[in-house]
Amino acid sequence: MDHFALKNGILHAEDVPLPSIADAVGTPVYVYSRATLERHAKVFREALEPLGTGDKKPLIAFAVKSNPNLAVLKVLQRQGFGADVVSGGELTRALAAGMAPEDIVFSGVGKTRAELELGLDKNIGQFNIESTEEGRELAEIAAARGIEACAVLRVNPDVDAKTHEKISTGKAENKFGVPLMRAREVFAELAELDGLNLRGIAIHIGSQLLDLEPLETAFAKVGELVADLRKAGHSITHVDLGGGLGVPYKAGENPPSPADYGAMVAAATKGWDVRLTFEPGRVIAGNAGVLLTRVVRVKRGGNGPPFVIVDAAMNDLARPALYGAWHDFEAVEPTGERMTANIVGPICETGDTFAKDRDCDSVASGELAVFRTAGAYGATMASSYNSRGFVAEVMVDGDQFAVVADRIAASAIMDAERVPDFLT
Ligand code: LLP
Repeated sequence: MDHFALKNGILHAEDVPLPSIADAVGTPVYVYSRATLERHAKVFREALEPLGTGDKKPLIAFAVKSNPNLAVLKVLQRQGFGADVVSGGELTRALAAGMAPEDIVFSGVGKTRAELELGLDKNIGQFNIESTEEGRELAEIAAARGIEACAVLRVNPDVDAKTHEKISTGKAENKFGVPLMRAREVFAELAELDGLNLRGIAIHIGSQLLDLEPLETAFAKVGELVADLRKAGHSITHVDLGGGLGVPYKAGENPPSPADYGAMVAAATKGWDVRLTFEPGRVIAGNAGVLLTRVVRVKRGGNGPPFVIVDAAMNDLARPALYGAWHDFEAVEPTGERMTANIVGPICETGDTFAKDRDCDSVASGELAVFRTAGAYGATMASSYNSRGFVAEVMVDGDQFAVVADRIAASAIMDAERVPDFLT
């Protein structure tokens, strides 16, 4: 459910007609709906509520990578969410949005020494350690400060998440976590170290999962591991089950609901007696945003359909070029007529294609359109390729809206460059 709908024939975000945002801010522009973010946060939270109370109340740590915009983080902070961060930059954003340090978990396979130090400086709640080497380094830094870093060990369960190979993270050949068969020995070694309070396990097998079965399989493996670790005398109080729940990008896609997911988790983790953490990203932000774009022109095709050339490009929304991902394309003022088109951006490579042979609303030069489900992994993956600037972001709240990220002009990016003396 989202709050982008036609009213009097014009696509609105909540109560704001999208043409008024295009007029005020220009295109392309990402538009987020506060009400949609809040609804998704609430549905997800309610689905997990039965999993524990008091000190076992689940921590929902929004995956900042999916949408790091400060205003988006603020909405979720107000919903009681913490943050899952994977860099010093994301950590700084989560704190700037007012997220409590103890509600921040730091994931990522390549945290630098400076980033580990920053996490300790800021007193974050948990480090998700991805290797023996990282665990030793964190322990050493913390011990030198005379403190203990709270940490869990991320394991790689070797489960096929049945998603796009580039966003699958839980197979043996993926770089993430410690192989499950080595987890007991790595845990034993790290648990001994001064400076580390190793208190549990983390897992994340992939993103845009449309089926609960791989998660269930992975969680069962975690359950066995937790039991084994306890038998070996370790105290296990925390398990982080990661993110990954998919969203519908196109008609007919039917991902499990947060309620289905919550019920599966309840069954899979029965008797674990731990505090659970979740790291949802896409399921919260995906359908809460659209990329608003203007048709530059419609060009006749060769022997195929016409090219609808829009002013957004693969540098603004990389997912179609990178993963062959589908984003619905809809006219802001649809006439009811349809067309079959290749929808492309202005960038000088064929990969700058949003859709091929797409049956879509008829659009003409100068008209506005949107790519739907662009609230997650959209603006955050933008680049300035072809010396295009960074796209602006807007948040809508009822009948008002605000620019929540300025457009960064190509000239501002150039201003950070210089020609050295030896070339002049
Ligand atoms: N936790 C960890 C450790 C992760 O690596 C990720 C996503 C998440 C949580 C959040 O997963 P989500 O709930 O959003 O599925 N750029 C790609 C997605 C990459 C996901 C990377 N990790 C895309 O556009 O599809």
